Amino acid sequence: MTSDKPKHTTTDAGIPATSDEHSLTIGPNGPILLNDHYLIEQMANFNRERIPERQPHAKGGGGFGHFEVTHDVSKYTKAAVFQPGTTTETLMRFSTVAGERGSPDTWRDPRGFSIKFYTTEGNFDMVGNNTPVFFVRDPMKFQHFIRSQKRRADTNLRDHDMQWDFWTLSPESAHQVAWLMGDRGIPKTWRHMNGYSSHTYMWINATGERFWVKYHFKTDQGIDFLTQEEADKMAGADADYHTRDLYQALKNGDHPSWTLKVQIMPFEEAKTYRYNPFDLTKVWPHADYPMIEVGKLILDRNPTDYHTEIEQAAFEPNNMVPGTGLSPDKMLLARGFSYADAHRARLGVNYKQIPVNSPKSPVHSYTKDGAMRMHNVTDPVYAPNSKGGPSADAERYPMDNTWEVSGDFVRTAYTLRKDDDDWGQAHTLVREVMSDAQRDRLVSNVIGHLSDGVTEPVLQRAFEYWRNIDQEVGDRIAKCVKGG
Ligand code: NDP
Ligand code: HEM
Repeated sequence: MTSDKPKHTTTDAGIPATSDEHSLTIGPNGPILLNDHYLIEQMANFNRERIPERQPHAKGGGGFGHFEVTHDVSKYTKAAVFQPGTTTETLMRFSTVAGERGSPDTWRDPRGFSIKFYTTEGNFDMVGNNTPVFFVRDPMKFQHFIRSQKRRADTNLRDHDMQWDFWTLSPESAHQVAWLMGDRGIPKTWRHMNGYSSHTYMWINATGERFWVKYHFKTDQGIDFLTQEEADKMAGADADYHTRDLYQALKNGDHPSWTLKVQIMPFEEAKTYRYNPFDLTKVWPHADYPMIEVGKLILDRNPTDYHTEIEQAAFEPNNMVPGTGLSPDKMLLARGFSYADAHRARLGVNYKQIPVNSPKSPVHSYTKDGAMRMHNVTDPVYAPNSKGGPSADAERYPMDNTWEVSGDFVRTAYTLRKDDDDWGQAHTLVREVMSDAQRDRLVSNVIGHLSDGVTEPVLQRAFEYWRNIDQEVGDRIAKCVKGG
């Protein structure tokens, strides 16, 4: 027989509590007793509720869903998750980059687009953005870039002068900055934006043939954006606008979806392609590498506990399952180290045992012990062993996601290819892809940004930067900003 009576409160040890409202005292007016374990448990837990927020991408939200393969791409990859007819459970998180956990969703910024696929051969993570490119191409500059977007040491304020100082001294940022200052720099909602791997990754098919691949998750809701004015108003009216929108959509059964398409480059072509195909500041023009459809990503379920399912989610680009791999992109290789390190610092060494991060396929690893270990380890605890412990299977899982390199240790930029320069693709975006109205809004957005605290000589460099992207756009910006 079920009862409508609510469950009785217990302590975390499951011991029934006598009162939710009163601490243990000597007489009604008397002092509180130290042996009121229940009160102390409440206070102690409260003091430890917050965990460090993510360094970048602190503000975000997400949900659960699934990925369905609709087209056969098995000639390019043997990955179980991409085989025809396969459906895989997924977790997604969207985010802004620079703002803290409580910052407004509608600040101009790239948006994170993270997906965890719980595949039959382990977790596959795609930790991308809503932009196909990035601001820098060497991981040595990433930390500096993020600091330039966050807060100054003296005022504790964000500062456009600092942002443009960094950007104008880093011309490789031009493509991403042109993208950011356009309409797509403030998506209307997370449902109305694309997701890109941005980086080039590797695919390997069942015969061991290797390909280079870029992932594009195209929104089925259509691209939509907020103007700067709309976004500024929204930042005050509802700082959690995008979080709320996704929550409501999922609650109402309005499930957003994205169509996954990929660009594929044959392995050998990378050596002679006119752009360095691993340079994260460049796209592969569609005319060179057309889109190939793979499947559909659908979000259909809200989290029930934001902290355990979204805040403690740990995405990492190094989670590459058989049939997939990294590429020589220096940024990607650095990310292969950085994320797991961030998770160990933010969540603890056993973060993969937090349910949302645990694979749904069996784990037979040799890691052991450590803080907050949840899963029992069984003997033997070492390899090799003759006691029936797991052993790696090189025949079934060969090391095939590799490439050859040779050379001296150096600290230099990538070798330039025929069409490699910092301005060309930014110019194409601004002049050939954007309509007149889109270009007008871009110009107005940049004028507003530069008019807010940017000083000399950064200002003159910013005009030059925009003239290098597009002479006419640069001239218009300079004409309208004081000092131009
Ligand atoms: P295409 O004309 O084939 O592709 C242009 C792409 O730009 C489309 O994917 C489109 O996305 C996207 N786009 C349209 N309007 C905007 C906008 N206002 N802001 C940002 N992106 C927009 O040309 P190419 O492949 O030769 O690329 C030309 C330029 O387009 C590149 O230099 C790059 O800046 C940009 N671009 C290219 C992408 C690529 O992977 N090749 C991806 C995204 C941008 P959609 O169809 O979803 O509207
Ligand atoms: C988050 C590092 C480049 C997308 C993070 C985090 C770190 C980090 C430390 C916080 C992780 C956490 O605490 O959970 C780096 C480094 C980079 C880099 C060192 C370059 C060398 C990029 C690029 C993209 C990207 C190029 C997109 C293509 C993201 C996303 C998140 C994130 C989406 C949020 C993940 C989530 O939703 O939990 N990054 N990053 N990063 N990064 Fe990067």
